[in-house]
Amino acid sequence: MIGRLNHVAIATSDIKKAAAVYRDTLGAKVSEEVAQPDHGVTTVFVDLGNTKIELLEPLGENSPIANFLKKNPNGGMHHVCYEVDDIHAAVARMKAQGATVTGEPRIGAHGKPVVFLHPKDFVGTLVELEQA
Ligand code: CO
Repeated sequence: MIGRLNHVAIATSDIKKAAAVYRDTLGAKVSEEVAQPDHGVTTVFVDLGNTKIELLEPLGENSPIANFLKKNPNGGMHHVCYEVDDIHAAVARMKAQGATVTGEPRIGAHGKPVVFLHPKDFVGTLVELEQA
């Protein structure tokens, strides 16, 4: 069912420093910072050609990555995002398979419908499904 790896998301408390690591140390193509108040994050995308790295910094009071950074103060891998053709069919399949879908599909940080799957069902990794 899942298709391509759309992105790997890395949470950080200092997105400027994180962007510099990817741009300067690793020599990658790095986007400008984009504040996404609706999602409680500031994002930078690293374009790797075959996929992307999404750097995330908390924005505002109720950021969804605030707790993660409390537990992982140096930052770390937050989730992986796989592409699916049909988000509603994907949700139905996940529920039929007994996986925990955290909420209904909504428009994600890239303007496409997404859902998140609980890490306990996926080898300890938070999974985002995005209708590509
Ligand atoms: Co994501």
